[in-house]
Amino acid sequence: MVEAVADIGLIGLAVMGQNLILNMNDHGYTVCAFNRTTSKVDDFLNGAAKGTNIVGAHSVEELCAKLKRPRKVMLLVKAGAAVDAFIQQLLPHLEEGDIIIDGGNSHFPDSIRRCKELEEKGILFVGSGVSGGEEGARYGPSLMPGGNPKAWPHIKNIFQDIAAKAPDGAPCCEWVGESGAGHYVKMVHNGIEYGDMQLICEVYQIMKEGLGMTHEEMANTFEEWNKHELDSFLIEITRDILKFKDTDGTPLVEKILDTAGQKGTGKWTGIDSLDRGIPVTLIGEAVYSRCLSSLKDERVRASKILAGPKDVKFQGDKKKFIDQLGQALYAAKIVSYAQGFMLMRQAGKDYNWKLNFAGIALMWRGGCIIRSVFLGKIKDAYTNNPELENLLFDPFFQKATADAQDSWRSVLADAIKMGIPTPALSTALNFYDGLRHEKLPANLLQAQRDYFGAHTYELLDAPGKHVHTNWTGKGGDVSASTYDA
Ligand SMILES: *[C@@H]1O[C@H](CO)[C@@H](O)[C@H](O)[C@H]1NC(C)=O
Ligand SMILES: *[C@@H]1O[C@H](CO)[C@@H](O)[C@H](O)[C@H]1NC(C)=O
Repeated sequence: MVEAVADIGLIGLAVMGQNLILNMNDHGYTVCAFNRTTSKVDDFLNGAAKGTNIVGAHSVEELCAKLKRPRKVMLLVKAGAAVDAFIQQLLPHLEEGDIIIDGGNSHFPDSIRRCKELEEKGILFVGSGVSGGEEGARYGPSLMPGGNPKAWPHIKNIFQDIAAKAPDGAPCCEWVGESGAGHYVKMVHNGIEYGDMQLICEVYQIMKEGLGMTHEEMANTFEEWNKHELDSFLIEITRDILKFKDTDGTPLVEKILDTAGQKGTGKWTGIDSLDRGIPVTLIGEAVYSRCLSSLKDERVRASKILAGPKDVKFQGDKKKFIDQLGQALYAAKIVSYAQGFMLMRQAGKDYNWKLNFAGIALMWRGGCIIRSVFLGKIKDAYTNNPELENLLFDPFFQKATADAQDSWRSVLADAIKMGIPTPALSTALNFYDGLRHEKLPANLLQAQRDYFGAHTYELLDAPGKHVHTNWTGKGGDVSASTYDA
């Protein structure tokens, strides 16, 4: 008879899995480790886990036997079929009320499905976003758990103990919401990360190409920005990257091929925003920018034949422009987060998840790639008003964008004149201007649709009533079903 000694079991001993186990061990939890290739378990126990309280198992059955009730098993295996396969292997050895946690990069519809299927079997499923990479897993990740709410009281202590801590000591881990909410929020987190990175890259191109700044000057600017409202991990590493010299003494960054890779989570966010009808334009542009960067050969050819502005060099006050550039970056970042929270708000409505937006901002406050001082302000906004309709309506962000908008416009006008691409910075301003327009030209659009397709329109003073106009004064009995364009 195997004794149930472990507080939690963990399957998958790649670096993330090993580091999370070591992190849990540091916090006084007894963890049972398992890997399909059982020699990996022994390697781990005799290696990194030597001298700790970590125990191992050589079968799923042994793993489950070693767990205290209710059993908690965390999966850190490749997203997709492997997760379902392990769930199937675990089921015969689990009892009602036991908990399966998927800590991998699963797509949220899978988590919605798994949560429902397991609930029918009496098993509590949690899909948790884990962010912060290997370092985060070892010393404090950002954790975004969602799923069956009955699981939360049983895993709360472990999760909050091992999570990163915000500067005020609060753990970067809160219950996100029901069903697939944890993986959904992780997906949006990754999309926002795409946006933040793209914004910084556009600013770098303006600095380099438009202002002709040296790498030292650029690094110093990022260093300065990192002391104020833009203070964040990504600004900090950008400073370090720009400073980094190759062995020949020149900046390494300039030797790197300019085609971006992607694993697909940004794309998922973009697709989801289209499905939900929420204009998450900045993340969309960030994904498309990576796509455009990949068309290197075509860009090389285009660079030789497509016209741009003739010899436009920046003329004005450089120092002032750099200040304005910082403001533009800040304002665009605010819009990006506003769009991300709009998307989560809609998903919450669509799936009936009670999302905790202040908690989400807090979870991203530390431990993950998008960690920043700025997220503390977002947390404050949603703490002050959990029902906040739009982040831009919060008094702090309303004022921040109001203060930045002149600079933002001026920077973009110059960049456009100089022919420097600014897809994310620009789409953010376009969204901002669109949102603050009571009237958009969609009245004309509706007229066009009615003209060619008899799709009908509503009148401002009679909403709800659909009317059709005979625009041409000719033709027969046309209807929307005959011209469905
Ligand atoms: C087993 O461990 C290896 C690394 O040692 C890892 O790559 C793999 O994902 C793990 N797989 C499972 C299913 O446990
Ligand atoms: C549009 O008006 C013309 C001219 O009065 C008429 O002949 C035609 O039947 C009308 N078409 C429709 C769809 O009402």
